[in-house]
Amino acid sequence: MAKRGILRYRGYDIQDLAENCEFIEVAYLLIHDKLPTRTERRNYARLLNLNSMLHEDMQAFFRNYPEHAHPMAVASAMAVSLSSFYPEMNDPEQEKTISATRLISKIRTIAAYSYKKSIGEPFVYPSHKLTYCENLLNMMFSSPVADYEFSPVLVKAMNQLLILHADHEQNASTSVVRMVGSTGADLYASVSAGISALSGSLHGGANQEVMQMLETIHKSGGDVDKMVQRAKDPQHGFRLFGFGHRVYKSYDPRAKIAKQVCMSVLEKLGIHDPLLDIAMKLEERALNDEYFIERKLYPNVDFYTGITYRAMGFPTNMFTVLFAIGRLPGWISQWYEMQSDPHKKIGRPRQAYCGPTRLTYVPIDKRTAS
Ligand code: CMC
Repeated sequence: MAKRGILRYRGYDIQDLAENCEFIEVAYLLIHDKLPTRTERRNYARLLNLNSMLHEDMQAFFRNYPEHAHPMAVASAMAVSLSSFYPEMNDPEQEKTISATRLISKIRTIAAYSYKKSIGEPFVYPSHKLTYCENLLNMMFSSPVADYEFSPVLVKAMNQLLILHADHEQNASTSVVRMVGSTGADLYASVSAGISALSGSLHGGANQEVMQMLETIHKSGGDVDKMVQRAKDPQHGFRLFGFGHRVYKSYDPRAKIAKQVCMSVLEKLGIHDPLLDIAMKLEERALNDEYFIERKLYPNVDFYTGITYRAMGFPTNMFTVLFAIGRLPGWISQWYEMQSDPHKKIGRPRQAYCGPTRLTYVPIDKRTAS
């Protein structure tokens, strides 16, 4: 499927889901293996709202982080901290319903609190009156003195972008979640490790890097050639962020949708972002370059998402947290699938050691400096 540029969740095409579903329906699909009925969706939305607040004592953690703390570091630490406030279920079925719901709901509150702390504004509580994505936007962008004005265009786009990230077989962070979970560690610890793995610039962290790369090109006059040349030069060790994928050797289907979402959001809101022009120029330049053609390097999911997040008002360092919010249902369903396997074993990759195999012990005063 990946070779043909197809992505499906539980048999449903990603395009259909992104066009027609809310994010929570896709979360439900991944965790409960079916799309919810209207009543199931209502009950699930209610359950998520009931679990949206953080324990009040957790606010102290946020207050003590330095202002420049990266929100991915905060999110990872807060995810594992949840286990000390909310006890382990010791039963995979309960983990699936209770811990999973807590995590999917509270991760938004964690994300928004880390942002509010970084800009010195008071935390905004989640509201039972709002939907999942509305709550995220409201906690991020409203304040005690100013309401957030919802744009249906942005709420829809938020749902779509989270859906695009919801699951993707054995990517690095999902493998980490499974590996940690295979030891018997609880869901919070496993997800926390997944968030850390996702933060790397070759994985989820690429969306932040893409934005920084586009800004650099913009500041230096908009010439994409220099960046392409740099990416082709093996001496530089630099990569064109948002390009290439371990399994997609044709256009990433998520990138195609992310590009459509981005263009439609900017058009509907009447925004002209020069970074979109640069991204499209860069894409065209790379797709016609022998280096990228030979290596089958196409835009991936991270290439166009940042421009939409920027139009929504998210600062660049929040982009990867949004990826994590989207990926949570996938991590959880994969964690649960592994836990419910009666033949499950601890993960234990083998290692091929290449160093010396037998040396004579040397006392410290006889050792030579290397
Ligand atoms: N820019 C320039 N050259 C590249 C790039 C790139 N973005 N990606 C791969 N290459 C080259 C690489 O240098 C190598 O060249 P050569 O054969 O001459 O040594 C060749 O293509 C194969 O690279 P690779 O590292 O073996 O490929 P991989 O499948 O192991 O890596 C990747 C996949 C995503 C880590 C890589 O393409 C990359 O670093 N991309 C930039 C970071 C990025 O956008 N990551 C987001 C991935 S999608 C979201 C997610 O799931 O995290």
